[in-house]
Amino acid sequence: MQIDWLALTRFRSYDILEWSPAPGVNLLVGPNGAGKTNLLEAMAYLASLRSFRGVPDSALVAEGETSSVIRSGVSSDDRQRLIEIELSTERPRRTQVDKTPLRRSSDLLGVLRVIAFLPDDLDLVKRGPAQRRDLLDEIAVQLWPASHLDQAEYERAVRQRNAFLKAGEREDTTLGVWDSRLAQAGGRVLARRARVVERVGPLLETAYQEISGEDETVGLGYLSTWGAELVADRSAAEYAGLISEALVSVRAGDYQRRVTTVGPHRDDPALSIGGRDARTHSSQGEQRSLALAIKLAAHRAVAEAAGEPPVLLLDDVFSELDPERAAALTKALPAGAQTVITSARPDEVPVPGQIWSVQDGEIS
Ligand SMILES: Nc1ncnc2c1ncn2[C@@H]1O[C@H](COP(=O)(O)OP(=O)(O)O)[C@@H](O)[C@H]1O
Ligand SMILES: [Mg+2]
Repeated sequence: MQIDWLALTRFRSYDILEWSPAPGVNLLVGPNGAGKTNLLEAMAYLASLRSFRGVPDSALVAEGETSSVIRSGVSSDDRQRLIEIELSTERPRRTQVDKTPLRRSSDLLGVLRVIAFLPDDLDLVKRGPAQRRDLLDEIAVQLWPASHLDQAEYERAVRQRNAFLKAGEREDTTLGVWDSRLAQAGGRVLARRARVVERVGPLLETAYQEISGEDETVGLGYLSTWGAELVADRSAAEYAGLISEALVSVRAGDYQRRVTTVGPHRDDPALSIGGRDARTHSSQGEQRSLALAIKLAAHRAVAEAAGEPPVLLLDDVFSELDPERAAALTKALPAGAQTVITSARPDEVPVPGQIWSVQDGEIS
């Protein structure tokens, strides 16, 4: 799976840009603020329909403009497709594949698959549970694109149930309607998280050992704050049943606190090294190795599921690593995957590849 070419119009710092990355490793070099991350953000957008910086679409439109276009030729399985996305500060986004408008833009997901690693991701292990939940959900979208719809539906259901509780009314029939929507979508979200843990978990230990050079056991687990146990072969409907029961059991408390206190939005994907909680018991170096290992394992899991490797984006990661870890990461990079690495200091990136200079809104 690869990006053959990318064309940006009025996207962030780019007025007009056309770029054809190499099929293998691409190294984007340029000073801070040159637009390297912006370029990666556009590539990742094609595969996730959201900014990896977690900002709304309107932030991607060049300042002073009202619309922005990302176009790209991508190929996978010897099939070439043309993706076109128009982002607007005034209208909903429009998406086309091969000149055919998509009824739902989420139908674009799966045409291109991308795994991105950003500098912030290095702190994934020690940050709050929200980042780790997002990670599992992002991997789920790359593995099974339809997950996106369930995640959006679940977030809506939580927001609406919370809004009802905030209003302060105590009315079981209406709350029951929100409960049921929340449980249905939440069941599907949980079932997918369980399958992500099942697929990525076993690959994680190998990836960690490759990057750290240590022979430790590594675990990816899942702590539900409301008593659900994550089992990969449990169906979405079974999870929905568990969520329903939990919602009923905390109903009185939720009325009082005016917020939904149980459900997948409260859970914590847990990481361990040598059987100990990595968040509280591992050194910063170990935590960083583990964070890199998760993304590599995710890349391998998606490659396995899709039958070809997704595009790998590494933003400014090497400058944060000591030389041993940088060398180990280089060795662990997937052979045969299109990879784009950014750096302000190319001498710190020990990976051979096509070098591109990014400067003044241009790439050469
Ligand atoms: N919507 C936007 N319109 C115009 N310029 C933007 C927009 N968003 C960010 N920028 C500019 O992009 C530059 C940062 O680009 P970035 O890709 O983060 O650089 P780096 O090469 O350091 O990764 C900044 O100069 C910022 O002002
Ligand atoms: Mg950057």
